[in-house]
Amino acid sequence: MRNVLLLADRHADGAWLQYKISKVRPCRFVSIHDVTTDIPDIGLIVADVALDNEVLVKFLRLALERHRAANTPLLCLVKNKTHQTRTQAYAIGATDVLLADSPTPVLIRAITKLMDPNDRSADTVPDDSDEAFMLRSVHEAGAALTDIMDAAGRDAAIAPDVVAAGAASVLEACRRFDIRAWLDIVWNYDDVTYQHCLLVTGLAAAFAIKLGFNAADCQRLTSAALLHDIGKAKIPVNILNKPGRLTDDEMKIIRTHAEIGANLLAEQGGFEDDIVSVVRHHHEHLDGAGYPDGLHAADIPDIVRLTTICDIYAALIERRSYKEPMSPDSAFAILQDMKGKLDPDLTAFFHNVMLDCRGGESTPPLAQYA
Ligand SMILES: [Fe+2]
Ligand SMILES: [Fe+2]
Repeated sequence: MRNVLLLADRHADGAWLQYKISKVRPCRFVSIHDVTTDIPDIGLIVADVALDNEVLVKFLRLALERHRAANTPLLCLVKNKTHQTRTQAYAIGATDVLLADSPTPVLIRAITKLMDPNDRSADTVPDDSDEAFMLRSVHEAGAALTDIMDAAGRDAAIAPDVVAAGAASVLEACRRFDIRAWLDIVWNYDDVTYQHCLLVTGLAAAFAIKLGFNAADCQRLTSAALLHDIGKAKIPVNILNKPGRLTDDEMKIIRTHAEIGANLLAEQGGFEDDIVSVVRHHHEHLDGAGYPDGLHAADIPDIVRLTTICDIYAALIERRSYKEPMSPDSAFAILQDMKGKLDPDLTAFFHNVMLDCRGGESTPPLAQYA
């Protein structure tokens, strides 16, 4: 079956759409800013980009030049169907135009019609209430993360209510389903930093729930996890996303993210000290070998210790386009080997979260669409 290539500018929207399209066709999501990924055998391109934004349209045109063959249909998803929007869509070469918030069956029918008019598989789209709930939760957390990182990158204020709403979505999802369902969706995020932050946040929420934290403590830890790498918004993308080994100088630059992030939050105010502490200290180790302050055990509070465990575990199980994630067991074995650096009791308890990461009988039947 030929691939659908989804071109979008927002990762949260892209992952949500990719899920919907994957019900009927293999779908690959590529950001319009990605100039390196090549997708084979494209049968249709779906573009979800704000056509009233000249810069984004420029990127979309470049992406189409790169990916689109002469006979490949292009479905443009638009915010409204005004004459002006339709004209813009057809000006960039759209074969058809559809409202971006169309119901899933409408989207599926449009896609199948463009790829194969004789295909009847889109006539029945399966019931997806549990899956839709989980997807919406990831989408909301991803949208909150986008807002937070955008604000940090522009030196604008980070809205505490956006952080709280994003954390609440993650907690609600992790109360209803095992963390495995969260991982299955978040692994589809191509952007390294977004995938990492959403993995850490999901793991922190699951950890807090397993530990029996009260609602306020669950919310505090999950919010801290959502914010923990906010300083990366200030690190040059070519260093942040560098595929190979970092030089010593590049590593020094990356390591500034903890201090930068904490300073951003402290200067603007409105966030609890515990949360600022997580952002600054999540790379500290109990033996004093971490950064930025080389703190020792006595000076590292529990909320930081919890986040550090989630942060390291998330980094180990991240999925890249070129490799499968490390297995939950192997990643947990590495945590256990970090003796003297991580809290031993909390690490041992994290075993319960790891078991859920394995999936199994209790995992909701989410579709696999890697
Ligand atoms: Fe970090
Ligand atoms: Fe991190």
